[in-house]
Amino acid sequence: MLRIRNLSFSYRNKKILDNVTFSAQKGELIAILGPNGAGKSTLLKCIAGILKCQGVEIFSKPLEQYTRRDLARIVGYVPQRIDPGMLNVYNLILLGRKPYVSVSPSKEDIEIVNRVVERLNLQHLVFQRAKNLSGGELQKVSIARALVQEPEILLLDEPTNNLDPKNQIEIMEIVQDFVKSRKMALVVMHEINLALRFADRFIFMKDGKIVRDGERSILTPDLFWEVYGVNGVVKEILDTPVFVLRGKESPGSRENAG
Ligand SMILES: Nc1ncnc2c1ncn2[C@@H]1O[C@H](COP(=O)(O)OP(=O)(O)OP(=O)(O)O)[C@@H](O)[C@H]1O
Ligand SMILES: [Mg+2]
Repeated sequence: MLRIRNLSFSYRNKKILDNVTFSAQKGELIAILGPNGAGKSTLLKCIAGILKCQGVEIFSKPLEQYTRRDLARIVGYVPQRIDPGMLNVYNLILLGRKPYVSVSPSKEDIEIVNRVVERLNLQHLVFQRAKNLSGGELQKVSIARALVQEPEILLLDEPTNNLDPKNQIEIMEIVQDFVKSRKMALVVMHEINLALRFADRFIFMKDGKIVRDGERSILTPDLFWEVYGVNGVVKEILDTPVFVLRGKESPGSRENAG
């Protein structure tokens, strides 16, 4: 469904993505993790078609062969930050229907927006100016806008940033539901515990490269040291895998780390 082959990207002379290769299938919820500046947001922008690059194929067709409108029906992108402009919340979410609307929104467009507004519990906010929302509220609105786009692939850049614990779980459950209907999500995140709870697959990036790609078993003390330079370990607590951050010093012996 999504295929990334030898994707490299540079800003002027600075190489930001270096030979990134991976494929993703329907039904996968993939967490993309890695330190600040690793290139995670840049990768999402390449897949969303915002940055021009070669090496991305969706449904076996190179990204650059899609029109903007067709791509918007397939790929929904939630950036790290949005500029809400002067719109109210309802109209901002309705903008997500733009790839489907020819003249004015149809009854179906309105129904889809209403459904997503309810699903995300945003009813009480719809008439507010989006620029007056709290950071967390705006984050949910931005996700709502991408969901009404009804994409096949959802790209979320730190969607749980700014959200309280309950909203964090709510959003990740919504992404999980989305993926269950034979769709796919790539979620950039820093919260390792949320990733452990919701993701099926983990891609760790550093310095523009994929360091490791796999399931939960790849989250070892060696990996945390290599990627983040921290001493960390995943432990089962109350039947839940939990990331424990032990410090910045080297994990040293396996005994110490484990
Ligand atoms: N428009 C730009 N021009 C030049 N360099 C940029 C630009 N945007 C990003 N970069 C650089 O590209 C690198 C990767 O940035 P990117 O935003 O992809 O990182 P990230 O992994 O998303 O980090 P974070 O976790 O902090 O969001 C950084 O060194 C950043 O300074
Ligand atoms: Mg980023």
